[in-house]
Amino acid sequence: MVDIGTLVDSKQGLINPLIYTDPALYQLELDRVFGRSWLFLAHESQLPNRGSFVQTYMGEDPVLVVRQRDASVKAFLNQCRHRGMRICRADAGTNKTFTCSYHGWAYDLEGNLINVPLEERAYHNQIDKSQWGATKVPRVQSYKGFYFGTWSDEVPEFEEYLGEMKYYFDAAVDRWDNGLEFVKGATKWVIDCNWKFAAEQFTSDMYHAPISHASAMVALFEDPAMRSLFDPSPHDQGRQFAGHGHGTGSMGIPEFGPDILAGPEYSAWQIANRDQVYNRLGTDRAHKIMIHNNIFPNFSWLGTASTMRVWHPRGPGQIEVWAWTYVPKDAPESARKGVREVTQRTFSPAGVFETDDGENWTEIQQVMRGWKARSTLFNAQMGLGFEQRDYPGMPGMSNDLYSEMGARGFYQRWQDLMKNLSWKEIAELDAQRRAAEQEVQPA
Ligand code: FES
Ligand SMILES: [Fe+2]
Repeated sequence: MVDIGTLVDSKQGLINPLIYTDPALYQLELDRVFGRSWLFLAHESQLPNRGSFVQTYMGEDPVLVVRQRDASVKAFLNQCRHRGMRICRADAGTNKTFTCSYHGWAYDLEGNLINVPLEERAYHNQIDKSQWGATKVPRVQSYKGFYFGTWSDEVPEFEEYLGEMKYYFDAAVDRWDNGLEFVKGATKWVIDCNWKFAAEQFTSDMYHAPISHASAMVALFEDPAMRSLFDPSPHDQGRQFAGHGHGTGSMGIPEFGPDILAGPEYSAWQIANRDQVYNRLGTDRAHKIMIHNNIFPNFSWLGTASTMRVWHPRGPGQIEVWAWTYVPKDAPESARKGVREVTQRTFSPAGVFETDDGENWTEIQQVMRGWKARSTLFNAQMGLGFEQRDYPGMPGMSNDLYSEMGARGFYQRWQDLMKNLSWKEIAELDAQRRAAEQEVQPA
């Protein structure tokens, strides 16, 4: 096994491509990264009633997320304790119990084993059902309608785990008085790339947009002003935030107003309801768009009404993307139609930007089949040494929008976890890093 300490150098901005290809490292990631982080499970709009459930994954582990009789949400491994079959094979629905389709062991909404066929004849009444419940996800926490779960008993509470990312996450999830809703119907597709390419890009990469998406912008818009929306220009005061492995790219807008992409109805609804945003987020945050965002390790979203997704890892060279369109819960159908349509046209398996992004990631993964290509270091040095803490309107560490500070932070957290440092040790290291950062702050 390679020395994990040498794979990433976040101080120098260097990445060893083995982190995207090595099968042994990947197995370790499932345990040390996905097994010890907070992972997105479901949004409350997916679990409207008692007994509502969705099936999802924590890393590669299938889990069932279930609304309980007392309205709380619990999660357990979707694996029968008899011979390991998936307990529930439906993606979503409403149930009173879950019955395994192999031999019929049945579980309640919490995952307790409640019925075993032929219990008297075949088991001679000697099976202790209380010992054979499904493996429970020990911690599930709700944050503004979003449920996150972890296998770890030592990772800090979810809000502490978010750190300053809370400010940026809230810009999307705490924007409207009545919250958000996932539009029914997730889109799911497979991309042949390592999960970190996708997660890192949503953490940190605005740099690719003017280049990678240039032709898509031409195809989408006739107006030259719209075509150059992604171009770095002097009027754009965009900045990038990074902290605790999370990241956001934020762009200033002259005033809170029309959403050209989502169409006139949504724009009119937004403007009519803008006081909600001003009251909840303050003027400064209302006048920014948090364009790209990722909560470490693999939960990403774009903008303020668009797509949210999880990059489920499927081996070192593949991901399953599960994406939802999210809209303000109160927006009428006429307004949300614009959001739904533009999301499908831009960021979906059929979307122009999505296919550009996937093309890059699969191409890199292909190139790394070469042994020389796999041992040539990558450069993640953009903006190194120009980070600033608590820049006005950007709590935490930020840098120009065009920077790889977010990527460095993402890989730093990845490496901390891969080294199997405890969360307590990571917190101590973070404090040391924070003390050291004062020295590199530009005047
Ligand atoms: S594997 Fe589920 S009942 Fe046998
Ligand atoms: Fe992109």
